[in-house]
Amino acid sequence: MNSTAAATSTTTEQQPARAHRGPVARTLAITSGKGGVGKTFVTANLAAALSARGQKVLVLDADLGLANIDVVLNLHPKLTLHDVFTGKCSLDQAILPAPGGFSVLLAGSGMVEYSRLTPDVRDKLLQIVELVKPRFDWVLLDTGAGISDVVLFAISMATDVLVVATPEPTSLTDAYATIKVLCTQQERRHVGLLVNQANRPGEGRVICGQLQQVLQRFVGAMPGQSFKLELLGEVKADPSVRQAVLKRQLMLEHFPGSDAAQSIKALANKLLG
Ligand SMILES: Nc1ncnc2c1ncn2[C@@H]1O[C@H](COP(=O)(O)OP(=O)(O)O)[C@@H](O)[C@H]1O
Ligand SMILES: [Mg+2]
Repeated sequence: MNSTAAATSTTTEQQPARAHRGPVARTLAITSGKGGVGKTFVTANLAAALSARGQKVLVLDADLGLANIDVVLNLHPKLTLHDVFTGKCSLDQAILPAPGGFSVLLAGSGMVEYSRLTPDVRDKLLQIVELVKPRFDWVLLDTGAGISDVVLFAISMATDVLVVATPEPTSLTDAYATIKVLCTQQERRHVGLLVNQANRPGEGRVICGQLQQVLQRFVGAMPGQSFKLELLGEVKADPSVRQAVLKRQLMLEHFPGSDAAQSIKALANKLLG
């Protein structure tokens, strides 16, 4: 039996608790143009914040090949997506409990075979996302940076997109380029923005306004089209984020009273809004 078939049959046999009730999960891709802007930090802590609000959350490490959410969560995975893909384990075995009360499906690191989107990887990923959707309220996809076909495919599986950007010009240029690609290739007309490592309060609003203007000019060139970039959050540059990452702990657990933790909770509230 091939791997995804194994995953499918196991899941069906075990009749997951939420398989037949409630709506399917909201799928949110957390992405960016530039790397190192805080996607994984935001994903892990947002998952914890949504869990604290009673939501059932799965984080899927969609940074295939260079996955590292396990590092942030201090998990030492024995089983990953790769093992599901190759039939070494079932999907249920690879869905692990994470600190923060959510579940996580990890990807391996350093596996060059996942740096390109082959039809096989594409089909298996899609099948896995479809299988988990009925079992959770939220599926968060922590993607890699950039606009490679793997990243764009991961985003295409999500109903909602959150672009993380820092105020640096390079990050903003790359965020703009990414959103433009999402507009043209995926016909997205609504994207969320989180400005991370903000230097002063209100910087996110200013940045969002500027990006909205250039995006609207770009999309407005297409007859009858408009675009909405929605500011979903602003997290200030906060040294305790780095400390939490170094300690491999969730910000929400290690420094729950910090500004950054409060901002992530506000993001969760807005998404649940
Ligand atoms: N709000 C913040 N304030 C200070 N440092 C941050 C903040 N967000 C992220 N960082 C730092 O940036 C590093 C990279 O973040 P990470 O989430 O791994 O980025 P990405 O997933 O986008 O590559 C973190 O390890 C942390 O040290
Ligand atoms: Mg990351």
